[in-house]
Amino acid sequence: MSEDNRFEKRYIEGNLPWDVKRRDFNLSRLVEDGIIPSGKALELGCGTGDNAIWLAKNGFSVRACDYSKTAIDMAGGKAKKENVLIEFHQLDFLKDRIPGEPYHFIFDRGCFHGLDQDEERKIFAQNVASALEEKGHWLSLIGSADDIMRETGPPKRSARDIVNAVEPFFEILFLKKSHFESDQVPPARIWACLMQKRKMPD
Ligand SMILES: C[S@@+](CC[C@H](N)C(=O)[O-])C[C@H]1O[C@@H](n2cnc3c(N)ncnc32)[C@H](O)[C@@H]1O
Repeated sequence: MSEDNRFEKRYIEGNLPWDVKRRDFNLSRLVEDGIIPSGKALELGCGTGDNAIWLAKNGFSVRACDYSKTAIDMAGGKAKKENVLIEFHQLDFLKDRIPGEPYHFIFDRGCFHGLDQDEERKIFAQNVASALEEKGHWLSLIGSADDIMRETGPPKRSARDIVNAVEPFFEILFLKKSHFESDQVPPARIWACLMQKRKMPD
């Protein structure tokens, strides 16, 4: 089964342990602390849309994408109910062109970390860089290799996995241990990684 179908099936079945139905504090704190000023934002792998909706309610102009049609439909329904304007797109970020570039802020929670191969992670990072304006920021929330053993849980990536993929395209502003916004006890450990796009040679 292809990756996109695997996620689609989970959205149809409602098997969504990551979907906490509220914004993630790792995102909201950065915005509330003024580290990410409002502007044009893109969420990658938005799932059912709570973080995109939070950004839209907090002054951002937002597009959000996911390759699951069911997730996009759910997110669109929530945004309508909350009366916020967000452009949702069903697409594969590794293959499809993102409309509306360039963005000043890109966010993903558990999308980048799903890629098992270093090469795919590099392509993902390169695509993020090309969708950002100069000096634009990317915040990625990434399952940590230092988390405890769990029966099910997010993919686990090491700091080295992250640095290998992003370093050519981004300056890492911080790479710090955190945990997902979650109702699980204990919540899954993550890397919260804030990056700024490097100026690419012409
Ligand atoms: C673990 S879920 C997290 C969903 C959401 N960010 C959240 O925190 O609730 C990962 C999401 O990324 C999406 N995704 C994974 N790879 C993708 C890709 N290449 N292009 C677009 N969406 C992708 C999946 O469909 C899924 O909705």
